[in-house]
Amino acid sequence: MKEKGSSFSGSIGFVLAAAGSAVGVGNIWRFPYLCAKDGGGLFLLIYLVLVLTFGFVLLTTDVAIGRKTKKNALRAFEALNPKWKFLGKLTFFVPTLIMTYYSVIGGWITKYFVTYIISDGTDAAADGYFTSFITSDIAPIVFMLVFLALTAWIVFRGVEKGIEKFSKIIMPGLILLILIIAIFSLTLTHTDADGTFRTGLQGLAFYVKPDFSGLTVKRFLEILLDAMSQLFFSLSVSMGIMITYGSYVKNEVNLNKATNQIEIFDTGVAFLAGMMIIPAVFVFLGTDGMASGPSLIFISLPKVFDAMGIFSRPVAIAFFLMMGFAALTSCVSVMETLVANCMELYHKPRKKMCGAVGIYSLITAVLICLGYNKLYFELKLPNGSVGQLLDVMDYISNSFLMPFISLLTSILIGWVIGPDWIVGEVERNGEHFKRAGLYRFMIRYVVPVVMLVLFLVSTGFADLIF
Ligand code: PHE
Repeated sequence: MKEKGSSFSGSIGFVLAAAGSAVGVGNIWRFPYLCAKDGGGLFLLIYLVLVLTFGFVLLTTDVAIGRKTKKNALRAFEALNPKWKFLGKLTFFVPTLIMTYYSVIGGWITKYFVTYIISDGTDAAADGYFTSFITSDIAPIVFMLVFLALTAWIVFRGVEKGIEKFSKIIMPGLILLILIIAIFSLTLTHTDADGTFRTGLQGLAFYVKPDFSGLTVKRFLEILLDAMSQLFFSLSVSMGIMITYGSYVKNEVNLNKATNQIEIFDTGVAFLAGMMIIPAVFVFLGTDGMASGPSLIFISLPKVFDAMGIFSRPVAIAFFLMMGFAALTSCVSVMETLVANCMELYHKPRKKMCGAVGIYSLITAVLICLGYNKLYFELKLPNGSVGQLLDVMDYISNSFLMPFISLLTSILIGWVIGPDWIVGEVERNGEHFKRAGLYRFMIRYVVPVVMLVLFLVSTGFADLIF
């Protein structure tokens, strides 16, 4: 039985909540880096094509499964075909892993936001500041707690009064902040000690101009894989989140239109993040300054802010507020997925399940924090990188499970159930699903093959085979 009041009030509520999930730290700390690394406009172009093909297929699949079955991943796959119940369990595993570390990252963002509120932030720009913070005993746990409490409170308030209401405030705020910072970024100029003069507009050109130099087939495939793995992490697909959010969508909503809007939102924010970060880093640190992940946000950018003079503090505050918004709506979607699945599984009310999931999140997040302190280790991962506890969780969920789940889902929908099941759901109210032909072709032939390749490459199995 469904919880009372557990649906989005309309299409906008759903689009903003789903966009809130999709727009997360990945849009801001990975997308610009990949652009800078993978030939600027060339990467943008490839990414755009993938959004319109793969992105749309994967997102439509998840949302339609949710809306048609009105169930969460654990039960939805079982309802599709009892033999595929295991796929629901596998899918549920992804948010279970992501929940362990997402609030820890949220805590880091909170810490930097507070630092710029109470000080001018010169300390944050100093070498070793970030490492000494994450390896300290208490501070990372305290900031994680603040972020987790905020997340749990929104989830506790429910679908319409919590998730939808906050997404409707946060997402427009996020767009506004990112636009302001991006425009400011374009106006920056700087002269290095050796007299080299650089401008934000030159940085923009570096970002959007396609760079074909040194392009070989192998390099092209590498770029394709980078774009592919970024895309489906960014859209929050294949982890049950969009199935859960889809189950809250009313039958009269036009799914095709809504999923298009979510993609435009997610890609638009990623593009703006590049427009904000690449010119700023280019102006102050040059092309070699581009980094990815936490080191971009917590090490390189504080140095960039520091060089902005009187604008340093307001820009840093606006930036970390925006980043906090992005992380919060994503973390809410992960926790909501866990709570909703547990409610369905144990037939218990939201409040109780929120408490249980909250305790789980708290304990595991403390362990992740300790991964940089008492539980520190360095593990070589199969994809070649070296990581701590947080990276191990991230690796299992994103590099291993997500492509594997996408692969299995495309086989289930493409070959066992048949793509018309999804097409029928999209056209439920007589809407015309323009790309139905493309959908059928992609889900049967293209997605399984590409996901298999992505799985082999990102797990490092490809190196063993070839
Ligand atoms: N889609 C989010 C991003 O781009 C990441 C995310 C992953 C959010 C998993 C929720 C769950 O950063």
